[in-house]
Amino acid sequence: MAMKALPLPTSPDGDVTDAVLTVTDLSVEFQTEHGRVRVLDGVDLQVPSGKTLGLVGESGSGKTVTSLAIMGLLDRRVGRISSGSIQFEGQDLAALDARQLRRIQGAKISMIFQEARRSLDPVFTIGDQIAESVRIHEGLSRREAWKRAIEMLQLVQIPDAERRAREYPHTFSGGMCQRVMLASALASRPSLLIADEPTTALDVTVQAQMLRLLRTLQEEMGLAILFITHDLGVVSEMCDRVAVMYAGQIVEEGDATQVFGHPRHPYTEGLIQSLPESAVARGRLAAIPGSVPPAHAWPQGCHFADRCRYAVDACRSGPIPLLSRDGSATRCIRADELSLAGVR
Ligand SMILES: Nc1ncnc2c1ncn2[C@@H]1O[C@H](COP(=O)(O)OP(=O)(O)OP(=O)(O)O)[C@@H](O)[C@H]1O
Ligand SMILES: [Mg+2]
Repeated sequence: MAMKALPLPTSPDGDVTDAVLTVTDLSVEFQTEHGRVRVLDGVDLQVPSGKTLGLVGESGSGKTVTSLAIMGLLDRRVGRISSGSIQFEGQDLAALDARQLRRIQGAKISMIFQEARRSLDPVFTIGDQIAESVRIHEGLSRREAWKRAIEMLQLVQIPDAERRAREYPHTFSGGMCQRVMLASALASRPSLLIADEPTTALDVTVQAQMLRLLRTLQEEMGLAILFITHDLGVVSEMCDRVAVMYAGQIVEEGDATQVFGHPRHPYTEGLIQSLPESAVARGRLAAIPGSVPPAHAWPQGCHFADRCRYAVDACRSGPIPLLSRDGSATRCIRADELSLAGVR
């Protein structure tokens, strides 16, 4: 399905800011017991360079599949990109072969995720693991790579980096493992970092430190971040722009403050109302009844219609496009007539 591309974010004086990553009409299909099922359905995303785009949505909406498709890490035995393009620094990643992709992934685009400890090999020292990844991507000598590893550990504020580089992962706490994974991800100086729920497993204090560190490094390195999370609080703290995902589609996109203050899609309103501090949640009403249907059962029209209190017949009559206006976009045909409640 062809869809209108989102407008580029504009700066206050109206200049178009450049995007480091532009995903257009991306669809991904999986081979499942229900046959071939489309789990991403025409996803449009733009990550402005040096800025953070938050990608939010309930479990099963397709956030991780989106990041895997961008990284070229979909399991090709079951999943494939069936349409769309992924423009990154002048190349369409969706059209590259595995060998070409490997050169970009991990070097110019890096990823961190929830299970930091699992990303580390228990039989190698921390320093060796970081050094090995820069040796692969940049062809540095053993000595130079080790030096870079120490620098990276210092950059992510691991105390006593030279000594700790010679230690094994089991001596590191969960929060420290996250820092090591970040050090490794940033060692090749990527221009885009994809962070998939990087702080979800951490306790609140450690999470706050990690987010602060990410923001500092972003400024120092001019890094663009695609930040995937369930947590709207984290998004409003971390993100310049936000894309809200529901059942394989982006349903709303815009400036983070604007989207949370004045949502233009009923699903976004529901997410805001399910925040613990919202009046609806305090009254223990379900802000969004039901759950995300499985991909093989998504309806023809608006994917959200069956859970939407504002749905009318027209919402179910056929595919709803993502309509953009003034630097933001919504996939709700009633957006202009509804006045949806934002964060107060
Ligand atoms: N290998 C696979 N085979 C078939 N279906 C898959 C596969 N991986 C993911 N899916 C389906 O794709 C959809 C999106 O899953 P995804 O993991 O991207 O969700 P998510 O938004 O990251 O959720 P969460 O918040 O729980 O991490 C789900 O319906 C899931 O069942
Ligand atoms: Mg996920």
